[in-house]
Amino acid sequence: MYLTRDEERIYEGESGWTKKKAMEILVAIGDLNGASRLIPVKSAHVSGVSYRTIGDAFVFIENLDDRVVVDTTLNPMGMDRALWRAMSITEEFAERQSRVLAAYSRLGISPECTCVPYLLGGMSPERGSHIAWAESSAVLYANSVIGARTNMEGAPSALAAALIGKTPLYGLHMDVNRLPRLRVKVDCALSDADYSALGYLIGDIAEDRIPLIELSESLPDRDELKHLSAAIGATGAVGMYHVKGVTPEAVTDIDETYIEEAIEIERRDLDNVYEVCDHEPEVIAIGCPHCSHTELKQICRYLKSESGGKKVRRDVFVFTARRIRDRLRNVVREIERYGVRVVCDTCYVVSPAFLHYRSLLTNSGKMKRYVPLICGACVELCSTRECIRAAFG
Ligand code: F3S
Repeated sequence: MYLTRDEERIYEGESGWTKKKAMEILVAIGDLNGASRLIPVKSAHVSGVSYRTIGDAFVFIENLDDRVVVDTTLNPMGMDRALWRAMSITEEFAERQSRVLAAYSRLGISPECTCVPYLLGGMSPERGSHIAWAESSAVLYANSVIGARTNMEGAPSALAAALIGKTPLYGLHMDVNRLPRLRVKVDCALSDADYSALGYLIGDIAEDRIPLIELSESLPDRDELKHLSAAIGATGAVGMYHVKGVTPEAVTDIDETYIEEAIEIERRDLDNVYEVCDHEPEVIAIGCPHCSHTELKQICRYLKSESGGKKVRRDVFVFTARRIRDRLRNVVREIERYGVRVVCDTCYVVSPAFLHYRSLLTNSGKMKRYVPLICGACVELCSTRECIRAAFG
């Protein structure tokens, strides 16, 4: 891969050890993927934050001695920084988790700890801008719904891009690699968790082929696209999708020359994803990806209409970004009056706080995929309203 003179100097260590290591990572990835050069990025989003997943490898981050040069955000971690005691997180875990957070913050990374950086005011990338994001749900949303350009970065490559402000030019940064190779026709009306179920199916079938989804009866809103993105990213290995007439690169004509297969998805295919667990749900979790402003308000409305004036009878957790929680303090207070716990900074899947639950109800296709694999619990998918209704059942 071609490097400018300045990039070569960084590679040779003239800007210090941390930048040298970052440049080595970018060059290795670029060479591996046939990139011709590095291109500037507007922002980065770094994963690998939960102490449960990163373990003592975070000491490496503590030893880095430089600062990021573009806006950079962090993925969720294993606890809410304010409520960890109420989550029964141990002192030892909290101490280690706080060190991870401090290590990233010292590099100049904004400790937002959310998988929806695009919902934080001023952090959303523009269409066509190059970014370097880890976190599959955010990558799919950024590429598909916003029309920004990022490959599916891992924790090291996203951090390296943040430190250098550049990423190798290959993959989804290039027009030709953003064209669809699989046509998916959906011939039924969809709403709410149907998009999680649809993404769950499509990711599995598409593997690394970009799907062009043709909906006959529905127009998804942004939250539904958020869930579609997360579910495709959970079961597939593809970093973007198009929805014909909806997502920015498929609003009008899209080049369909590379489509090699067409499939149809019917109502009964989706219904199979809603399979039922053997036991009653022990916990209800909403907010994977983290809830938007609109979703929090919707949850509040459902609680009002389903509660009959009572509190929930099961453990119910709602996950969101701290900045979203802070903007909706009254809504959050109202939600919590029903006994629902609103948790920030945290990902259910990588937190030790939820490992004792054996069965879970959720509206998230990503949880449907990962919770059985990582937490060993059975997961039942249902709509947001049904999740809330079940909380009182
Ligand atoms: Fe976010 Fe964790 Fe779900 S990172 S998308 S809450 S699995």
